[in-house]
Amino acid sequence: METCSRKGIFISIEGPDGSGKSTQIENMKAFFSEKKIDVLFTREPGGTAIGERIREIILDKSCTEMDYMTEAMLYAASRAQHVAQVIKPALAEGKVIVCDRFVDSSIAYQGYGRKLGDAVRIINNYAVDGCMPDVTFLLKVDPNVGKGRITGRAEKEDRLDAEKTAFHEDVYQGYLQLEQEHPERIVGIDASGSIEEIKAEICRKLEEVLNGVTE
Ligand code: TYD
Repeated sequence: METCSRKGIFISIEGPDGSGKSTQIENMKAFFSEKKIDVLFTREPGGTAIGERIREIILDKSCTEMDYMTEAMLYAASRAQHVAQVIKPALAEGKVIVCDRFVDSSIAYQGYGRKLGDAVRIINNYAVDGCMPDVTFLLKVDPNVGKGRITGRAEKEDRLDAEKTAFHEDVYQGYLQLEQEHPERIVGIDASGSIEEIKAEICRKLEEVLNGVTE
């Protein structure tokens, strides 16, 4: 497998639905803009024209008949395009990339949530093609608390948000498992705290990453 030649820094942010990811992404934008560092913010599923079209299909609430393996492959297809078209070239140019969800989402949601297990890791090895994040922020919040935060946003709820509590609990267990497996990459953050506390923790870690410090 080809590895990812890189001068840049690849950061991803993960968490269950309602973990406050969007707010922290806004805070990260402010952090980098204060430092006048040009950052490419992108997301999955999506991040390319093809990926955004795949996103529409995957998240469409009317696609009730979607098979779980189809779902896993569509996320991986969107990722393969994103890595090839956007992430690898940007890293080779030395850019900083912040990606809203990446492969850990597939392992948590499709691997643990849908119970597809190792098939998801295998498919995604092809999609990621050796290009893993340097750092992944995992916003940890009990899925029931997270669900409470997104209640009232029903009109925005997508096909996965609408899943039952047990599914979201399995997803969360998947994330906790990933955090244990990859302590060198995944920075778990207690997302039940205040927005300011979470922001401070993320900024501290970003400073370390920019200074090339690894723990
Ligand atoms: P999005 O609107 O981006 O939700 P959020 O704001 O929670 O990130 O929708 C993405 C949904 O897709 C979210 O429920 C998580 C899910 N997902 C997967 O199941 N697998 C994946 O590989 C990715 C990237 C996302």
